[in-house]
Amino acid sequence: MAHMETDQASALRKKMKLRGDVQNPVNGVRTLAVVSGKGGVGKTNFAVNFAASLALKGCRVLIIDLDIGMANVDIILGESGGGTLPEMVENNLPAEAVIHNSRYKLSFISGGNGLGEIMAFDSGRRNILLKRLGELEGKFDLIIYDFGAGAAEDTLEAAAAADEMLVVTTPEPAAVTDAYSMLKLIHRKNESLPVRILVNKCRDEKQGRHIFNHLSKVCRHFLLKETMFFGSIPKDENVWKAVCSQTPYTVKYPGSKASRAVNAAADRYLSGSTVQQEASESFTEKLKGWLFQRN
Ligand SMILES: Nc1ncnc2c1ncn2[C@@H]1O[C@H](COP(=O)(O)OP(=O)(O)OP(=O)(O)O)[C@@H](O)[C@H]1O
Ligand SMILES: [Mg+2]
Repeated sequence: MAHMETDQASALRKKMKLRGDVQNPVNGVRTLAVVSGKGGVGKTNFAVNFAASLALKGCRVLIIDLDIGMANVDIILGESGGGTLPEMVENNLPAEAVIHNSRYKLSFISGGNGLGEIMAFDSGRRNILLKRLGELEGKFDLIIYDFGAGAAEDTLEAAAAADEMLVVTTPEPAAVTDAYSMLKLIHRKNESLPVRILVNKCRDEKQGRHIFNHLSKVCRHFLLKETMFFGSIPKDENVWKAVCSQTPYTVKYPGSKASRAVNAAADRYLSGSTVQQEASESFTEKLKGWLFQRN
């Protein structure tokens, strides 16, 4: 990692660990799966800007692009380099060889072509993926999996093996209904998985809260599942403008409504108010569970 280790950053990490927010305090790295039912709700834009915001606050964040259809973290960032997850597996490379360290202080691994085959890998490839991603323990504070929309079996298994899941929806009824369907399927895989809900493209915060209240009531009623509000992001034309200039909106338009909402979500995440503290397996154990449960 080329990132500079500042006093502020190490103090922040210490704080996270002391609070118990990191699952494995020795080699801890949290994993957050970002999913949605409907496509185009803003998962990738949120993942990138949330990561950029956390990175500015001293957090070491890695995004792994797991969108089989359209891997596009690199396009939103306007950066390429590093390698791809399939290249890492096929050529048995160390994860560090395919990680791209962005100028925005976050890191990412591209999905690239052939991700579909990797996600449905044989045991030889699974072993390589496990070993290589396991080497990242302790090198990052947070790994964000950016998934494609929908509920392919591989997506469900991988998402259910993360430490926590972030379901992204918009206020649109079809997106909310699909978010619930997704939530139900992942809940069946892992009932104890902490689930947070982000409402994107809102008219205002009140609308975001309202949509969350509705969705969380349905989850409580039909799944006996408690969900948590991660926040809402307003619909903001600066997001689109930033996408077109291939720069995160938190960087290009730091004062915009969307940026302020993402920065606030990052602050809440770091202060632990959206984080549930639970003892759990280490990163490597979780990966193993995901990779080998289909044998
Ligand atoms: N808060 C927002 N305000 C306005 N437009 C937004 C906002 N968030 C995302 N968008 C727009 O929505 C579109 C889809 O965003 P994005 O690619 O992040 O969605 P996604 O959920 O990752 O899509 P996919 O399901 O294809 O992976 C983009 O054109 C983006 O500019
Ligand atoms: Mg996406």
